[in-house]
Amino acid sequence: MNISVFGLGIIGARCADNLTAAGHSVTTWNRTPKGRPDSADSPAQAAKASQLLCFYLKDGVACRETFESLRHELTPNHILVNHSTVDLETTEWLAEQCSKLNIPFLDAPFTGSKVAAQNGELVYYAAGDSTLIDTLRPILEVTSKEIIHLGSTGTATIVKIATNLISATTVQALSEAMAIAKAHGVSEQTFIPAVLSNACGSPLAAMKLPTMAQGDYDTHFSLDNMRKDSVFALELAKAAKLKTPAAEATSATMNALCEEGFADLDYSALYKQF
Ligand SMILES: NC(=O)c1ccc[n+]([C@@H]2O[C@H](COP(=O)([O-])OP(=O)(O)OC[C@H]3O[C@@H](n4cnc5c(N)ncnc54)[C@H](OP(=O)(O)O)[C@@H]3O)[C@@H](O)[C@H]2O)c1
Repeated sequence: MNISVFGLGIIGARCADNLTAAGHSVTTWNRTPKGRPDSADSPAQAAKASQLLCFYLKDGVACRETFESLRHELTPNHILVNHSTVDLETTEWLAEQCSKLNIPFLDAPFTGSKVAAQNGELVYYAAGDSTLIDTLRPILEVTSKEIIHLGSTGTATIVKIATNLISATTVQALSEAMAIAKAHGVSEQTFIPAVLSNACGSPLAAMKLPTMAQGDYDTHFSLDNMRKDSVFALELAKAAKLKTPAAEATSATMNALCEEGFADLDYSALYKQF
C-alpha cells in the first residue's frame, strides 16, 4: 500500500521517516514546503499518489482545509486515517464526508511525543470499524508499540482530549508545587526525587520536572497545541454542562503564556509563569 503523510511537524515527519524505513512507498505533503524528496506539491497530488492517507495535522481547521483540497481526488479505494488531535465536531465531519464518498475512515489520535515518534513507539487510540483496524494494523504497528481499540468513531477523539487535559493540569500542578517548594528554600534537586518516589510521581513528572528545573523547554509537544486541546476539553465539558475549574484555569494560563510569546515552546513552559 502506498502511504501519503499529511503534516510534517514534530510527529508526522518522524512517522513518515519510519514508514519509509520499513519499506513503504511514502509521499508527504506539508503546508510549508520542507524540501523532502518524497514531497508532493499539493494535498491533491499526495492523495493521487497513495491509497492510504494519514493526517498528522495541527487541528480541526488544518484537517478540514486539507480534506477540502484533496476531496476531488478521492475514490472508494482510498482510506483516511486521522491521527491529529481535533475537536469532536471535526472528527464527526471527517467521518461523514468519508461516508458520503464511501471511503473507510479511522479516528486514530495517539499518545507519545517526539522521542516515541522517533522510535516508532506511539500508542494509537483507535475508534471505528475493527475490521479496518485489523487491515491497517501492520502499517500502524510501524509507528506504534500499542493500538487500543476504544469503540465507535469519536471515542478516540474524546479519550485523547480528556487524557491531554490530565497532562496539562498535571504539569500546571507540578509547576505550582515546585515553585512553592523553591520559594521556601527547597531546591529543585531536592524536590524532584521526592516527587518521583511519591505516589503523585508519574512518567510525566519524571519526563518533565528535570527539564523544567533546567529551564529547558525544547519542544516535544508545543504549548500552543496543548492550549488548543484544552479548548476542545472545555467545549466537551460545556456540551455536557460540566464545570471544570482546573481545566479552565490551566487553559487560561496557557493562553496567557502563548500571548507572551511562548507558544512554540514545550508545554512544560507552564513553569515559566513562576
Ligand atoms: N507532539 C506531540 O507530542 C503530540 C502528542 C500527541 C498528539 N499530538 C497531536 O498530533 C498532531 C501533530 O502534532 P505535532 O506535534 O507534529 O504538531 P506540529 O509540530 O505543531 O505540526 C503541525 C502540522 O500541522 C500543519 N498545519 C497547521 N495548520 C495547518 C493548516 N491550516 N493547513 C495545513 N496544515 C497545517 C503544520 O504545517 P506548517 O509546517 O506549514 O505549519 C505542521 O505540519 C497535533 O494535532 C497534536 O496535537 C502531538
